[in-house]
Amino acid sequence: MTDRYAVFGNPIGHSRSPRLHAAFAEQTGQAMRYEAIEAPVADFATAWQRFVADGGRGANVTVPFKETAFALADTLTPRARLAGAVNTLSVTPEGGTHGDTTDGVGLVRDLEAHAAPLDGARVLLLGAGGASRGVIEPLLDAGVASLTIANRTVAKAEALAQLFAERGEVEGCGFEAVTGPFDLVVNATSASLAGDLPPLPEGLFGVGGLAYDMMYAAEPTVFLRWAGAQGARTVDGLGMLIEQAAASFALWRGVEPETAPLYAALRQTL
Ligand code: ATR
Repeated sequence: MTDRYAVFGNPIGHSRSPRLHAAFAEQTGQAMRYEAIEAPVADFATAWQRFVADGGRGANVTVPFKETAFALADTLTPRARLAGAVNTLSVTPEGGTHGDTTDGVGLVRDLEAHAAPLDGARVLLLGAGGASRGVIEPLLDAGVASLTIANRTVAKAEALAQLFAERGEVEGCGFEAVTGPFDLVVNATSASLAGDLPPLPEGLFGVGGLAYDMMYAAEPTVFLRWAGAQGARTVDGLGMLIEQAAASFALWRGVEPETAPLYAALRQTL
């Protein structure tokens, strides 16, 4: 039987993951099937167990199931534990469920692909939810000099900074209290979804500064338009989507697919 994989989410209709993994499988000659499954919001566990019973070998997990998948996994990688979320599940040889996350490494790989300043960089991370938490350790591992977490709810930014305080220079604050310049500003809020812009002060970007929005769309997000007007170089989150998918694929199949061809192809379809 062909190995089965899937992405679980709700809603899941517009997911690009099946297309990405089909392309990776073709490129690397892997025989596998990958589908999108909409699980009931209140019962991810049953949907996952049914999938495994039907021959499922692994899955990506997206909104709103990343924390549920974290809780459900029998074993977790250290990076998933730090992220508090799981985007990649694998069935172990013993039949257990192993949880990992490739979101953070996906962001860092895409930043590197765009020649982002990371080593020694002053970095501002906007947002203190799950998306933000998942990228903190990989950014610190990439050698950033300082990480400021700014959030609408200031207490959440402070609590998140506290969680990582031992790992480097990490501090939390509100949007208005942010003082630049920064080499890199990453938008991990969901504000772009609603077309909102966090109330940030002007003059945030240093010379050659980069603005990165984890969201992507056919048109630049309101955050990227604002950053561009401030003189920053701008990159959206399409590459992060592709890189996290490629990293999951490599975990399951043991081969690293090439991502560059997918970037151009997917961009055209937005
Ligand atoms: P995710 O998993 O995408 O991070 P989340 O955990 O719900 O989702 O977190 C959403 C993040 O976006 C939070 O940091 C949230 O700020 P609050 O903690 O103050 O709620 C932020 N956010 C959502 N809408 C926003 C808006 N319109 N302006 C600024 N920040 C916003």
